[in-house]
Amino acid sequence: MSEIGVFEFKGKRYEFPVEVGTENEISINIKTLRGSTGGIITLDPGFKNTGSCKSEITFLDGEKGILRHRGYAIEELAKKASFLEVAYLLIFGELPTKAQLTKFEGDIKKNSLVNEEIKDILDGFPRSAHPMGVLSSLTGALTAFHPKYTDVHSEEEMYKAITKILGKFPVLAAWAHAKNEGMPFNYADNSLDYIENILMMMYKIPTEKYIPNPVVKKAMEELLILHQDHEQNCSTSTVRLVGSSHASLFASVSAGVSALWGPLHGGANQAVIEMLNEIIADGGDVDKFINRAKDKNDPFRLMGFGHRVYKNFDPRALIIKKSADAVFESLGVTDPALKVAKHLEEVALSDPYFKERKLFPNVDFYSGIIYKALGIPVEMFTVMFAIGRLPGWIAQWREMRMNNEPIGRPRQLYTGETIRDFKEMSKR
Ligand code: ACO
Repeated sequence: MSEIGVFEFKGKRYEFPVEVGTENEISINIKTLRGSTGGIITLDPGFKNTGSCKSEITFLDGEKGILRHRGYAIEELAKKASFLEVAYLLIFGELPTKAQLTKFEGDIKKNSLVNEEIKDILDGFPRSAHPMGVLSSLTGALTAFHPKYTDVHSEEEMYKAITKILGKFPVLAAWAHAKNEGMPFNYADNSLDYIENILMMMYKIPTEKYIPNPVVKKAMEELLILHQDHEQNCSTSTVRLVGSSHASLFASVSAGVSALWGPLHGGANQAVIEMLNEIIADGGDVDKFINRAKDKNDPFRLMGFGHRVYKNFDPRALIIKKSADAVFESLGVTDPALKVAKHLEEVALSDPYFKERKLFPNVDFYSGIIYKALGIPVEMFTVMFAIGRLPGWIAQWREMRMNNEPIGRPRQLYTGETIRDFKEMSKR
């Protein structure tokens, strides 16, 4: 495309190249804006209109409800691929051959032990510590235990750092949970696959034989695949930004975990259940809470509704909604929170406030409910999201490093005081 973006200011005309993506998304490349205009910058709080990078990993169209990884539709990946197959696709760009997948799985398994001294760090946390805080700290601590892989210079070193974190992260997550519960720390069993291991390490009780439940495993694998990547969301942008200073993969992912924790991002799945419990405890009047969400003087929002990008429907939510029903039926779950959730969904979807603003249930609305049905404790919901998102963070970090992207450093519009004289203490 030969079109250009034109900007006129104080009678001067500035031209900027237009760049078009493979899905015909159009961007104006303003790389030269500040230099050519003598200091003008763009202001875009929340980056609602700003592309921070070029990426080949994930395409999403929020209007049409499309999500694809490396060209493959999320609906197909969720149905046909394993978690590590999708992870390989995201990170390395192509679906693995049988041999590539076997090697990848084997290399991850070789890294499924963590240093025993991690237990000393865990000892220092109070039992009530939120597992996301613990997971972020322990992921950062990997930099201390594996200093060799904090500064990677070759693809081989990068691969080693990647398989290390994929192997160790679920162990750290399971141990953060064990700490909460006052339970012994489980070790991975390399005869199990990645998802079975996650479930086993989290829920095996030493006095009892662990019997995997295939319904739980299938639902969990699908859920985690659906969470793997979502282009430049808050936590992924954090991972890329931290990594752009050439901080290690472990440090960058640790920052991503912290970003994911917030209730406006991954923490929403926990917030959904807390909101449903609040509605039940308050007598179950759904309309009252819908009205509160619409009241601009009330900070309450319907958790699990709305999305920065999806303004039609969240394709991940549609897939989860279907499997949620299957899981509830096969596990025989009857939960008052589920009834309230369905009622809430119906009312919100027909209410003009939500329709006009295109506020649909997002992935967190259903994932919270399904995690609850699978017996996952509420404070572990966002940890499960983090385990799912890990391959996406890795893929985006790797792409950023392979493209040799410059350090991320936004500008600002300063609105504070201009220069003034220092005020002596006696005059303040
Ligand atoms: N409940 C009630 N009103 C809402 C909600 C909600 N959940 N979400 C947005 N709105 C309203 C806003 O008040 C605003 O109304 P206005 O135009 O009258 O001022 C309008 O809808 C647009 O909302 P914004 O906040 O401008 O939309 P934004 O794109 O900045 O925010 C977000 C998106 C953060 C997801 C928001 O919808 C929200 O807070 N949802 C609840 C939290 C949640 O579920 N987060 C998970 C997101 S998915 C994920 O991270 C995996």
